[in-house]
Amino acid sequence: MKKKYFLNEKDISKFLTDLKGDLERFNFTNENQVIYSIAIEEMLLFCHENKKGSEFTYKSKLKGGLAILSIKINGTEYNPLTGGVGDVFEKMTEKMTIPPKYDYSGENIVTFSLRLHNTFANSLKNSWVYLKPQKKPLIKALLLQVWGFFLSTLAPIYSSRLVATMNRGDTFGLVVTGILVFLVDVFGSWATYFMKRHYNFISQNVLNQMEKDLLEEAVLIKTPVIEKKGTGTFIQRLTTDTTLMADSLIGIVDKGSLLINSMGILIAVLYINPVIFIYVLISQIILFFVENYRNKVSTRKDKNVRRVNDKFFSMVGEVMHGSKDVKLLNCEESMIKRIINVITATNITRCEQNEKNDRFLIIRRTVQHTLDLGLIIILFYALKLEAIVPSVALIIYNYNIGLSGSAQRFGNFLDTLRSFIVSNERIFDIKNEYEFPKENFGNRDFDRPFSGNIELKDVTFAYNHNDLLDRDVKVLKNMSFKIKPGQKAAFVGGSGCGKTTIFNMISCLYNPDDGMILYDNIDIRQLTRASLRNSLVVISQSPYLFNMSIKDNMLLVKGDATDEEIIDACKKACIDDDISSFEHGYDTIIGEGGLNLSGGQRQRLAIARGLLKGCKVILLDEATSALDNVTQKKVQEAIYSLDENMTVVMIAHRLSTVVNADKIFFVKDGKIISEGTHKELLDKCSEYRELYKSETEA
Ligand SMILES: Nc1ncnc2c1ncn2[C@@H]1O[C@H](COP(=O)(O)OP(=O)(O)O)[C@@H](O)[C@H]1O
Ligand SMILES: [Mg+2]
Repeated sequence: MKKKYFLNEKDISKFLTDLKGDLERFNFTNENQVIYSIAIEEMLLFCHENKKGSEFTYKSKLKGGLAILSIKINGTEYNPLTGGVGDVFEKMTEKMTIPPKYDYSGENIVTFSLRLHNTFANSLKNSWVYLKPQKKPLIKALLLQVWGFFLSTLAPIYSSRLVATMNRGDTFGLVVTGILVFLVDVFGSWATYFMKRHYNFISQNVLNQMEKDLLEEAVLIKTPVIEKKGTGTFIQRLTTDTTLMADSLIGIVDKGSLLINSMGILIAVLYINPVIFIYVLISQIILFFVENYRNKVSTRKDKNVRRVNDKFFSMVGEVMHGSKDVKLLNCEESMIKRIINVITATNITRCEQNEKNDRFLIIRRTVQHTLDLGLIIILFYALKLEAIVPSVALIIYNYNIGLSGSAQRFGNFLDTLRSFIVSNERIFDIKNEYEFPKENFGNRDFDRPFSGNIELKDVTFAYNHNDLLDRDVKVLKNMSFKIKPGQKAAFVGGSGCGKTTIFNMISCLYNPDDGMILYDNIDIRQLTRASLRNSLVVISQSPYLFNMSIKDNMLLVKGDATDEEIIDACKKACIDDDISSFEHGYDTIIGEGGLNLSGGQRQRLAIARGLLKGCKVILLDEATSALDNVTQKKVQEAIYSLDENMTVVMIAHRLSTVVNADKIFFVKDGKIISEGTHKELLDKCSEYRELYKSETEA
């Protein structure tokens, strides 16, 4: 595509719309589309403001898995990537999941090449992995299909013979042909049945393997990415898309071979009469073109529908999850209003897709009927000129009826192929490192058992990295501290000062932008997943419990735990009495997220679960905030007395809970402004003193 624009604001915005269309066509994520558009817009606006030209030309093409976009600014020789614009592009390259290559090639031309990660060849390669183990049933199914194809070519011949024998009054011939027609039909149907059975079997196996693989990949995705994409993205892709994909994978083979059927019929017509063959062939080609065009339009719409659906799924999940709050806040109406907007958008797109589809269908049918009429006229003249005999005319007519479905089959085939490609892209995106980056671990284990020494060295971190203009809000700023083995440490500070974020760093749920984290003086990026995740246990602010029995929740973290171990952990967390009072005791099912428990019970059960895991370091993030003072003290004492070599780090919601800590860190604005024991801090840190005073007075 090549287009010319004037270098003014109106045309630039027109260009940006075109660009967005292209990027969408090339399958760039929304996020990348935005970053990319902003960067190019910046460049064009700079040229506009500094009167570097009056017009620009935009060209885009696809070449060998690359999207190549070039922008030529007409005017005096000038490199648009110089000055502030160059910096913007540098930032863009840093932040895009697939960084583009860009280059100034003289004559005011800037060229971008962006690698496409999802080509059709890739799709096929990805799916072949799943089809390969199914080779045997696949071959059987294909053989049955060939057999069915052979029978379906015979059918028109025998049916026209049937008519001929009736005309002749040949009773014997009629009976024999009748039996043959019957046999051809019956064998055909049975072949179809067995073929479908095989395909079903294949589809089931493919689906099992694929869903298992994807789930394994999905749980590895980095936490910030999961948070950003929303749950709907994953639910849709792992359920609906995989089913569609398995169905369409089989559909492609199935419908593809129906297409071959049509070719068989065409060959039969060629054999009977070449002139009529040419007519029939041309008719089919015309119909195929119509179908192909229809399909292209549908593909674009289909992608949009599914993208909006992701959002819809997330929202429905949220409403049901937060149903209590929705009721109590009496915000059903406004919540539904928001969702309705998304639903309406989805449905409008879907209806448009259907409407367009139907319009093409009626066009195709009209064309087809006209072409059929043409064939009748040709057959009529052929009969009149005695080029063919009536029974042959009948066979050809029957074949044509058989073929009349083939454009439709071709359409179906394309529809299936489209569904396959769209599903494939969405599914394998999950495996894609660019789109859904996974957690990465090293391959080093501790030389000696982990002693519980934790250190943060100059750690800087921001949650949001989207902002091109670098307005990242740093949550942690050059933070450094050391926690020694066996130490009972605590972090205190105002809400939102970054305490939980410190735990996110220590536990490696998020990675620092700068600086490093050391366990026993080893950079945690070098550690294996097992070394890292088994070194410490985090009991978070709002722990998640699963919709299973209490016992199963405990067994999740330690599969071989005995009943005694489970009960012991629960006793230490002061939850055993509560559990014993439940009708089903440890077999009580606790609901989604532990819905059937009280807030305090949930916290204590999470602590018990953490204790059962048994790690060298335990991190408690306001983990006892919902407990009364007496219970909270008991739980804390139990934790402190577990093992004096165990490192315990607490984030305190009440200062009174940490006055006995060996070391207290006072956090403010992402920095540690003071550290020491309670006494020391009272002496040297006025803000700590004030906080303590306000609490004791209260
Ligand atoms: N997952 C997240 N994504 C984006 N921002 C976050 C996220 N979690 C926390 N923040 C922001 O980081 C800052 C520090 O949060 P946090 O560490 O949770 O504070 P607290 O000290 O209360 O535990 C807050 O301003 C919060 O809004
Ligand atoms: Mg917090």
